Amino acid sequence: MTTSSAPGKIILFGEHAVVYGRPALAVPVTQVQATATVSATSRPGIWIEAPEIGLASELSRLAPDHPLAAVIKGVFSALPPPVSPHIFKENGVESGGATIHVTSTIPVASGLGSGAAVSVAIIRALSAFLGQPLPDERVSTLAYEVEKLHHGTPSGIDNTVVTYAKPVYFVKPPSPPGRGARARAEQSRSGEVEILRVGAPFTIVIGDTGLFAPTKESVSDVHTLWEADQPRWEKVFDEVEEIVQKARRVIETGDIPALGPLMDKNHKLLQEMTVSCPELDRLVEAARRSGALGAKLSGSGRGGNMIALVNARNAPALAEALISAGAKRTIVTTV
Ligand code: PMV
Repeated sequence: MTTSSAPGKIILFGEHAVVYGRPALAVPVTQVQATATVSATSRPGIWIEAPEIGLASELSRLAPDHPLAAVIKGVFSALPPPVSPHIFKENGVESGGATIHVTSTIPVASGLGSGAAVSVAIIRALSAFLGQPLPDERVSTLAYEVEKLHHGTPSGIDNTVVTYAKPVYFVKPPSPPGRGARARAEQSRSGEVEILRVGAPFTIVIGDTGLFAPTKESVSDVHTLWEADQPRWEKVFDEVEEIVQKARRVIETGDIPALGPLMDKNHKLLQEMTVSCPELDRLVEAARRSGALGAKLSGSGRGGNMIALVNARNAPALAEALISAGAKRTIVTTV
């Protein structure tokens, strides 16, 4: 039996602009995680159990574009043949199969990287079960392929931060011309990870609006805006980039209070991109009124989560203030 867990994540700065080649900063949230356990079974076949979403099925019965089917097939195709049944035999299964049990405490469709975390946990647990644990770079690339099913045109930030489970400075790399789509995807997701040095720890309170917000929709709406007036939006994305670069320096030097105004500015630009919503704005305002050093939405917006920077001792009071302002749950995390 093999088990693997992967954390949730938040984007500190740069969401949406990151899709247009600007940098973004993201950090893992270890208070929530996805876990996959693979065990040998006497039943033939690959059985997937994900009780939280009411799923119990044999792999071949899932639609080919089901994200869990895609991730499992991705692992099989990434390993050198023959993977099965030869390797199952080596794991002591003569004629049976395997059960992949998936659980997660990461809220879905809320900007906390639940899809990427489930993929990463399955990729690691299954490849280890098959006796060929995959390196991080390969894990991230495979999870990226599945992210495309969730998101359409993901930048790759979610799979990157969740795989490496460290604060990252992320830039979506340009695809090299003249190569196959698969090779392009693989090259463009590898070797580009910059782990962010954190000069002094800081505390973030995450507030969940409880609204499900498909990333695909807000990303596509921003794209429509961009197509209609590219000079205007390129300028907005440049402003986001400036914030990200400043935030990076501030995090590295540990001058944490200076992060607050940068979060406020980033939120304003996200409002301009039309990806905030009244529920997010209400929580952001409540956080600022209750002593946060800065606050912004995190992730694709239109629901999901917001984040607020606080002095550690004020975190419980701020979390309470967010609940009073309508948050469905809060998480306090230290970067
Ligand atoms: O999955 P979310 O909600 O954290 O959104 C991802 C961040 C975006 O920049 C909006 C999209 C992307 O692919 O980077």
